[in-house]
Amino acid sequence: MHETVKDEAERKQVTVLFADVSGSMDLAEQEDPEEWRKIMQRFFSVLADTVTRFEGTVDKFTGDGIMAIFGAPVAHEDHARRACYAALQMLDDVAEYAAELRRAKGLNFSTRIGINSGEVVAGAIDGGGDSAYTAIGHTVGLAQRMEALAEPGRAYLTESTADLARGYLDLRDLGEFEIKGASRPVQVFELAGVGQARSRLDLARERGFSQFVGREEELGRLEAALGRAKEGEASAVGIVAEPGIGKSRLYHEFAQRCRAKGLEVFEAQAQAHGKTIPFMPILQMLRSFYGIDDQDPEQLAREKIAGRSLLLDPAFADDLPLIFDFLGVPDPERPVPRMDPEGRQRALADFLCRLVGNPARRKVLVLVVEDLHWIDGGSQAMLHGLVEGMEGTPTLVLVNYRPEHKPAWAASPRYETIELQPLDRADTAKLLRDLAGSDPSLDGIDEPIHERTGGNPFFIEEIVRELAESGYLQGERGSYRLAKPIEDAGVPVTVQAVLAARIDRLDPAAKQLLQVASVVGKEVSGEALRLTAELSEEVIETAIGALIEAGFLYEAELYPQRLLAFRHPLTREVAYGTQLAEQRRATHAAAARALIELEPAERYDELSALIADHLRQGGETLEAARWSARGAYWAGHSRPRDALRLWHQAMELSDGLDDGEETAAMAVHTRLLQLQYAWRIGMSRSEEERLAAEAEEIARRQNDLHSLALLKVATSVRPGLEHSGPDWIAAVEETVELADRSGDKHLRAAVRGAGAYAYLCVADFEGFERILDEMLEIVGDDGSVGANIVLGSPIAWGLMGKGMVRRERLEFEAAEELFERALEEALKEEDAETASWIRSNQASLVMRRDPEAALAIARRNTMLTDRLGDVFSRSLALSNLAWAQLIAEEYEEALEAIEESERLYREAMGNGGELEGWRGQLRARALVMVGRTDEGLELAERAARVAGERGMLWSYPVAMLTLARARAAAGAEGVEEAFEEAERVARETGATTLLMDIEMEREQLGSSAGPAARPRF
Ligand SMILES: Nc1ncnc2c1ncn2[C@@H]1O[C@H](COP(=O)(O)OP(=O)(O)O)[C@@H](O)[C@H]1O
Ligand SMILES: [Mg+2]
Repeated sequence: MHETVKDEAERKQVTVLFADVSGSMDLAEQEDPEEWRKIMQRFFSVLADTVTRFEGTVDKFTGDGIMAIFGAPVAHEDHARRACYAALQMLDDVAEYAAELRRAKGLNFSTRIGINSGEVVAGAIDGGGDSAYTAIGHTVGLAQRMEALAEPGRAYLTESTADLARGYLDLRDLGEFEIKGASRPVQVFELAGVGQARSRLDLARERGFSQFVGREEELGRLEAALGRAKEGEASAVGIVAEPGIGKSRLYHEFAQRCRAKGLEVFEAQAQAHGKTIPFMPILQMLRSFYGIDDQDPEQLAREKIAGRSLLLDPAFADDLPLIFDFLGVPDPERPVPRMDPEGRQRALADFLCRLVGNPARRKVLVLVVEDLHWIDGGSQAMLHGLVEGMEGTPTLVLVNYRPEHKPAWAASPRYETIELQPLDRADTAKLLRDLAGSDPSLDGIDEPIHERTGGNPFFIEEIVRELAESGYLQGERGSYRLAKPIEDAGVPVTVQAVLAARIDRLDPAAKQLLQVASVVGKEVSGEALRLTAELSEEVIETAIGALIEAGFLYEAELYPQRLLAFRHPLTREVAYGTQLAEQRRATHAAAARALIELEPAERYDELSALIADHLRQGGETLEAARWSARGAYWAGHSRPRDALRLWHQAMELSDGLDDGEETAAMAVHTRLLQLQYAWRIGMSRSEEERLAAEAEEIARRQNDLHSLALLKVATSVRPGLEHSGPDWIAAVEETVELADRSGDKHLRAAVRGAGAYAYLCVADFEGFERILDEMLEIVGDDGSVGANIVLGSPIAWGLMGKGMVRRERLEFEAAEELFERALEEALKEEDAETASWIRSNQASLVMRRDPEAALAIARRNTMLTDRLGDVFSRSLALSNLAWAQLIAEEYEEALEAIEESERLYREAMGNGGELEGWRGQLRARALVMVGRTDEGLELAERAARVAGERGMLWSYPVAMLTLARARAAAGAEGVEEAFEEAERVARETGATTLLMDIEMEREQLGSSAGPAARPRF
């Protein structure tokens, strides 16, 4: 086990900057090489100093320029802004030196800059002994192309950088460019200057604030502090919270209230890249106090300063030269007396205190300083002096900062802190309604978004924006519609930058452990972490402590085992994304091993999909295929979508393995089983044909009769095909023969079970019962024979089929008993699918006698079947419900149910299947009964035709009966002919129950007044 922490490369979101000094080649010839070298060195140092000033890393010197990275090795959440500020500075500084060279030597220099943001792999690269930190990736290449594209004296950047820097910087859109090596045209921008926004909140203001939610208690505490300040009891409040929780917004709302009361509020903001620029926030504060604008001429600025100061107290006259100088508008007439930097700072601090504490001031002064965690030492010291010195004055100082910071005056009695909490669920929902709207399609997104963002309003806003930009949400801000499920939406780059910066502030062991945990899962047991991370127990303990302390993980459970969970799912995603694929692979494999080792074998089934996933991502392909298959079996017909996905995964995995007996068997098997789900939940025709062809090819090579028989079931015996009745029966007979030749009893039973349905659909009730009896005989008492190959429980299905035959023969009691036994068997074998079909039959059995009871059964069945996720069964359950509703005279509901049944089926299968005529006639009946007679008639005609042409004689006479009724209702011709045709076929096929219906219907129509009388179903 390693004691030390890995020092490997990482994936990082960064901004890459290329700058070169252009025109240098031909200039090199004019100048003496020595002189030339000096000039270039000076340029390089101008560029490199600027990079350092904004805390970037000079990656390398390129001969006539540099490449720099912002956001690595240590992530900065404002990497794009830093690069842009650096670029502006470089352009200025280079221009200055170039002007000097032009004057002195007549030489012409200029610089071009290219910037791009995105993911890179960053780390140390070993090169013969020494290693250098560098970044590699497409992102780098594109930055270089931007540089090549830029006009001399300009900085160009891509859309990716623009997305992060917009608002903070002024950008000019240059349009799209074809760039070599980029697959799509690239949107290019020119960096035009500094923008209006200084903080995230400025940006939010520009976009339009979201509705302010919650925070009543915090506002109350701020009001109380303000009240004290009014009484001359100066106080300071610090809001503490992680980025994005709403510190600035809370102050913004409070400042608005103060201004509304006529109070003066002055705001300043420390900047992430500002630590190296001394006194920025204090300068900002003073400039706003004096009302100085960037555009103001120096003379005007001085007048404003002098005016306001002297109005407060003529004694300030002595301080003016110092203040002019400090604020960047020195008075040539009145130079500042010479003093050392410390002396100067003291003098300024003293001035500030006198300004704030001036007795001439009556009204409360509210000073807001934001983001103290970024404040420079000088400003911090000055603020400290202010807080100490303001006692007894009407002053309220408001600051905010992140939890890792602690202000110098934390112990002051005048100081209180408020730990700002994330939004609760209700406030999150309110905010979401404001941002996204309340379209019904958005129902249910509150919860996943609250969970993903942990109630952080910034994350919530960014996620909504990201969802809108990537097409998950459609429409306008405030009134979106959900276009597709949001589960697989990515982390917005803006959020990624914030979180990556937080993760990078962890110590290396904690960071590594967080990365390992992110691979293992949302929740990780302490044990699993220990087995997966290659760190000693002590290191792990300390690291876990640090991660809990920093709020990344929390203890979700302590007993029976310690379970650690990610507080923030987004953190997990970001920590996961920072790792190199190779490193992740190893961790996934280790996580799978840990699960297998730690968990009891009884839990393997339910964990199989998870274990398979870790193994797959860990590159252990054969094992992953085996565990996927295990998971697929376990999901079975009760979770058909999971099963199909896992069979598909198992197939892809086994296809990637070398040939061998096990892989060949898997190749056939995994395809066959996917095909078993095609008719249950739908699959594209081309996919189905491809799977069948591939499976057949392999099965033939292996002379595998067993698989060939099942393949035939999947391609020409299964439900959902549109071939004619006789063809269907012929295919069944062939398959039965093939199975019998194999001699395998499981196969013989399974194939008969699957094939029996064809006899039912063509209304060959004798054939249906015969083949079921054969199947039941092969199975005997052993319920596992032939089970879960095509159908879950052959016994249940056999008993149900026999019951259906009894029902057709008017033997209702016998039918009822058989259905009951069938259901018992299905439930015992956990065959939810067959159970669903049985319940439908039970409903249809009682509906003539007790419509309400039938309705209750059908409703419950629809509900239970919904959970299956199996389209075939859901559509069937719904059409059965519609039937029961028709009998119970709930026509509107019936129409709704049958339309849903039809839609579900068509959408998944792309055709109408063998029950098209059956569903069609139900829909026709419902249409007639709600008064849409013409549509009903037309549909009844079509239903009867489709069923008749395909030889689906089970549905055909029913459709004919419906046609008779529809014609009667429409006053159309041919009522009697339709009755006769229905009766003929029902008699021929022995559908006795139907004959009875026909008889009743005829009598009713005959006895009623005229042909347009309303039929009763
Ligand atoms: N209570 C709130 N209601 C609505 N939106 C909020 C609320 N708090 C913050 N926001 C929004 O969330 C984003 C981040 O808030 P901000 O105050 O900038 O966070 P912080 O200063 O803590 O980093 C902003 O766009 C802000 O408008
Ligand atoms: Mg803020």
